[in-house]
Amino acid sequence: MDELRLSPESFQELLGKITPLIMQCVRDIDEGPTSFVQSLENSADSVEQAKQLAAAMKEERVPETGKAIADILDSLCNVAARGGVNSGSAGFCAYVPIGGLLHAVILEMVSLILNRVTPLFLLSPGMVQIESNVIAWMASVVGYDPVTSFGSFTSGGSMANFIGILAARRKYLREEQISQGAVMATSQTHSCIGKGLIMAGIPRSSLCLVECDEKLRMCPAALEKCIKAQRSSGHKPFLVVASGGTTNTGAVDDLRAISAICRCHDVWLHVDGVYGAAFNLTQRGRELLDGLEEADSIAIDLHKSFFLPTVTGLLLVRERFYLKNAFTHDVHAPFLPHVAAEEDNFMDMSPDLTRPCYGLRLWFPLKLCGIGKWRTALDDRLDWTAEFTDGLRKMSGIGVDLTTEPSLTILTFRYTPPVGSAATGDRGATQPDRQSEEHLAYLRQVNERLLVFINRRGNIFLSATTLPGSRYVIRVCVLNIRLTRERLMKGLTDISDGAKHIAEQL
Ligand SMILES: Cc1ncc(COP(=O)(O)O)c(C=O)c1O
Repeated sequence: MDELRLSPESFQELLGKITPLIMQCVRDIDEGPTSFVQSLENSADSVEQAKQLAAAMKEERVPETGKAIADILDSLCNVAARGGVNSGSAGFCAYVPIGGLLHAVILEMVSLILNRVTPLFLLSPGMVQIESNVIAWMASVVGYDPVTSFGSFTSGGSMANFIGILAARRKYLREEQISQGAVMATSQTHSCIGKGLIMAGIPRSSLCLVECDEKLRMCPAALEKCIKAQRSSGHKPFLVVASGGTTNTGAVDDLRAISAICRCHDVWLHVDGVYGAAFNLTQRGRELLDGLEEADSIAIDLHKSFFLPTVTGLLLVRERFYLKNAFTHDVHAPFLPHVAAEEDNFMDMSPDLTRPCYGLRLWFPLKLCGIGKWRTALDDRLDWTAEFTDGLRKMSGIGVDLTTEPSLTILTFRYTPPVGSAATGDRGATQPDRQSEEHLAYLRQVNERLLVFINRRGNIFLSATTLPGSRYVIRVCVLNIRLTRERLMKGLTDISDGAKHIAEQL
């Protein structure tokens, strides 16, 4: 038996050899470090460390002969993976944590061994049906009619949003009208929307930023004004991108009001629910996301709030016709069988031709555990976010303040050393001008130090963001499936210890 065509016995032998290493990686998720750097903010040390690791992994020549599997995997797990941030680890609360359901990991191996492709119904009808089932299940989660809606799996949220943009563009703009199109979003819309517009051939100048309210949600009245102004200046408003949970602060736009405006003005409503749409499973989430089911399309990441490992996204459309319409073209492949149009041919609903059965990734954990477990996990994280917020509120006396109230499971806070202490650089007489550039830069520096302090403790790993008004704030996203309440609350102690420690040194 040659080395490429592994025999079943050799495969089993390999499995046996790597099982201890797999188990070490599994234990590391809970017990290993949250990060190998203290923060990704402004850190020359992190850059130097990253360069050294990359240099250690650099290989100039393609290997001519094979090496022992233990050595290869050791360099993967114990060298390559020991740099940067440990985004799959239990304490990771930065950015939007990715999931890591181990059930999905096991399934992935089985799926790759089955190695079935699903561009066409006839190639793998059972797999295509499984994927269609999962799409219908997710449609029902967001409140769509599972019969009249449909969806397309993607490599992640950016691609799901991109397909939403394509569907809208195809419905409303003829080729020669593309340069006249107008898209409405806000300053809080994820950057992948701007990228998606470029990929869809829509000029950057088509993007109009609608004003936000004090909770950083799109103002419906300002949206309506913007649509009317665009139309009267000869543009074709065709797409509104609303947020079902922004990355920055978790803000959820008023989807009910926005969808009414979109209906009235005949504009496509796409909701970026990449982080937040899954919360529609919970009562509290449903209240915030009220009106979600009115959207024409919704992007979801299954590797975020459905806890799958990297990466799987899903674009859902309320009316299935518009998904196929987004990809309709007249270039045919003579080598592919003709299949009745009413069947689900995923090649007609995605940029991919050869593709696995993406749906299996969620189908297996859902069949094993039942959707109630996701509802409970998301509800737990909503509870923990509320408890964490209460803990932060109690720190206002030491200068730690919430900068945005929690929305879904994201909150932001900032440390402002108390006025009158040496810490503010103010000796007690006057209040520092909180808007001055100098003071903002000072607060940024103080909060960068606090972030490093928290991350170095290793209980939770946080990131930062900048809110309007150039306010640098620390951000917490409570989503990780391996996170426990106890571990998160230890983070509260780290924050208060950090603030006190910094105050002493100022
Ligand atoms: C709200 C939102 N939209 C889109 C994206 C992009 O998703 P992905 O990274 O899966 O492409 C993210 C990523 O965090 C997000 O939070």
